[in-house]
Amino acid sequence: MARVGALDTSAAQLGAEDRPGRPDVSLVICTLNESESIGSVLDETKAVFEGLTYEILVVDDSPDERTADVVRAHAAADARVRLVRREGARGLASACIAGWDAAHGKILGVMDGDGQHDTQLARQMVEMLQAGGADIAVASRFAPGAHTGLSGMRKAMSTVATPVIQLLIGARCTDPLAGFFFQTRRWYEGARDGLTGIGFKILVDVLASGPRRPTVVEVPTSLRARIGGESKLDLRIAVELVAQLIEKKSRGLIPSRFVMFAGVGGLGMVVHLMVLSGVKGFAALPFLVAQGCAIAVAMVSNYTLNNLITFRDLRLKGLAWWRGLVGFALACASGAVISEIVGFGLTKIHVHWLIAGGAGALTAAMWNYWSASRAAWGVPPRGRDVAAGVAVKTAPAPEASAETTP
Ligand code: GDD
Ligand code: MN
Repeated sequence: MARVGALDTSAAQLGAEDRPGRPDVSLVICTLNESESIGSVLDETKAVFEGLTYEILVVDDSPDERTADVVRAHAAADARVRLVRREGARGLASACIAGWDAAHGKILGVMDGDGQHDTQLARQMVEMLQAGGADIAVASRFAPGAHTGLSGMRKAMSTVATPVIQLLIGARCTDPLAGFFFQTRRWYEGARDGLTGIGFKILVDVLASGPRRPTVVEVPTSLRARIGGESKLDLRIAVELVAQLIEKKSRGLIPSRFVMFAGVGGLGMVVHLMVLSGVKGFAALPFLVAQGCAIAVAMVSNYTLNNLITFRDLRLKGLAWWRGLVGFALACASGAVISEIVGFGLTKIHVHWLIAGGAGALTAAMWNYWSASRAAWGVPPRGRDVAAGVAVKTAPAPEASAETTP
């Protein structure tokens, strides 16, 4: 049994768009607990693609087999349906990448597995790309004639974020946060190395990672109601998006994970000072004890937040959580020593104490990030490595034919 994954397959699959035998289109559908809807979504999509050569890859990260079992039943009856089963991996963006890396099509797309997207538009978008001249076709909730299908907070957030993102990435796309789109294989291959694979918003990544600005075509759309289950979008996705944009704007110099790690660190400072003043003020303990308490609480809270936000796709649980805490504490303790050495060293060569202190803190932040990523979560910190790392962690699927990439 071959392993399913970005690393194993990307080199083999990437290649000339017109290589013989490529299907017209590969559609990736990512699923997290979508057993209620994925069956009908597959049926609908197959009807829409009638007459084209195609494959549909469902990349499933669900904690149980219910969704995968529905896909297995479909795959057993139709070889064009394939299951990519990831275990221990999470994240819509990295799931898309794992799917596209395993895909063979000339055109590569993504659609939700909960029935919210209007499958009819898939055909239209594929044909727009087949006509030539465009790199990406998007089902846009903000194109003329569209309705967002969103309400309340979601609508407000999307309405505010969209123009900011458009400005930042400079791509002509009315809905850079859309989750339903197609791209040419050529565009994907050009963008692949720059993809962060972080978070939910894969289109932002795809639009901003190519060698030039993409030519985007759009069809208006409105989100339908979910067939079943519930949305996985939450507030953390906004944090990931900001981090992703900083990575893009800095041309990868400041990785999105580092942004989140540094943000958590800043929050930790606030926690530290609150605990310090609380313990000192209310319990009237000596500074050394109060400072010790503050360090311990801030360390555990930083670790917990990093586990929930910065490394949510690799979240540690149970015994691994405790092991990770030890690794994190060791990494941060050594960071403190490094901060002292750098700061002290700089004052010795007559650098102003404030600059020396800041340089020490910055070095420690980078060290903590680098070492804690490895010591606690066991990954290289670069986003794109993580997308691949996720795939490496992919467990072999139980049934060979439908679930592996050739
Ligand atoms: N494999 C995998 N792994 N799939 C995931 C994960 C994950 O970690 N998280 C979510 N999914 C799947 C869901 O099962 C669903 O099929 C699809 O990704 C979208 O997730 P939803 O939770 O339904 O998202 P949404 O409806 O709130 O958001 C949709 O609309 C947004 C625009 O408003 C998505 O299409 C977004 O991508 C899109 O930006
Ligand atoms: Mn949805």
